[in-house]
Amino acid sequence: MGFVVTIDGPAASGKSSVSRGLSKLLSVPWVSTGAFYRGLAYAALHSGIDLKDKVALTELAMSSEWRVVMTDEKTQVWFRNNDVTSEIGQEQVGNVASQISGYPEVRSSLLDSQRQCAFVGRGLVAEGRDCGTVVFPQAEVKIYLTASSEHRAQRRAQELGLNQQDLVAQQKQRDQQDSTRKVAPLQVPPDAMVVDTTEMTLEEVVKKIYAFAIERIRQ
Ligand code: DC
Repeated sequence: MGFVVTIDGPAASGKSSVSRGLSKLLSVPWVSTGAFYRGLAYAALHSGIDLKDKVALTELAMSSEWRVVMTDEKTQVWFRNNDVTSEIGQEQVGNVASQISGYPEVRSSLLDSQRQCAFVGRGLVAEGRDCGTVVFPQAEVKIYLTASSEHRAQRRAQELGLNQQDLVAQQKQRDQQDSTRKVAPLQVPPDAMVVDTTEMTLEEVVKKIYAFAIERIRQ
């Protein structure tokens, strides 16, 4: 297993764009761990599973009905041999992902496959909510990305072509759910560098994190 850079943070804080940029500079793959929760949420919604049925969700998590594939541009999700990557980006799927990610059984059933991503290249950039605290607690570099809730809603609204005001409320609810759940809540890892991206361009954020990461990896 090579070095690991973890990037955690709330919804729409820019984790995927930053991870993609950083992975290019470091020449290592990147993975969105959110894609595992979104993939499972999508598969559950399309399999008619009761979203409160933890046993059925855990079985589905382990099934070959769906899979996650890392590419340079995106973390893809395939469901029954169809690429559903753009569908899992929908807010509804994100909200269901947040809901089912509160079940400890579901979290542990996805953990192994998330960790396997670190064995593909000579390093990995992994983004999500608990990458620095639970998935890769031994990571060499830990980052916590944040931005004002208005700024995050504005970004997501542009991406999805939705109303910004509706998104502010939805994201607040999702952040609250992700930060207060009992298992692996969203939190700043103790040894992480916190980057507030509200007033920064994507390029500035990537540059800053790259400089920090290179220092740490060389040590
Ligand atoms: O980062 P995202 O919006 O794609 O994540 C969707 C949901 O998945 C998020 O609201 C909570 C859950 N998630 C999680 O619990 N742990 C992670 N490491 C990543 C995502």
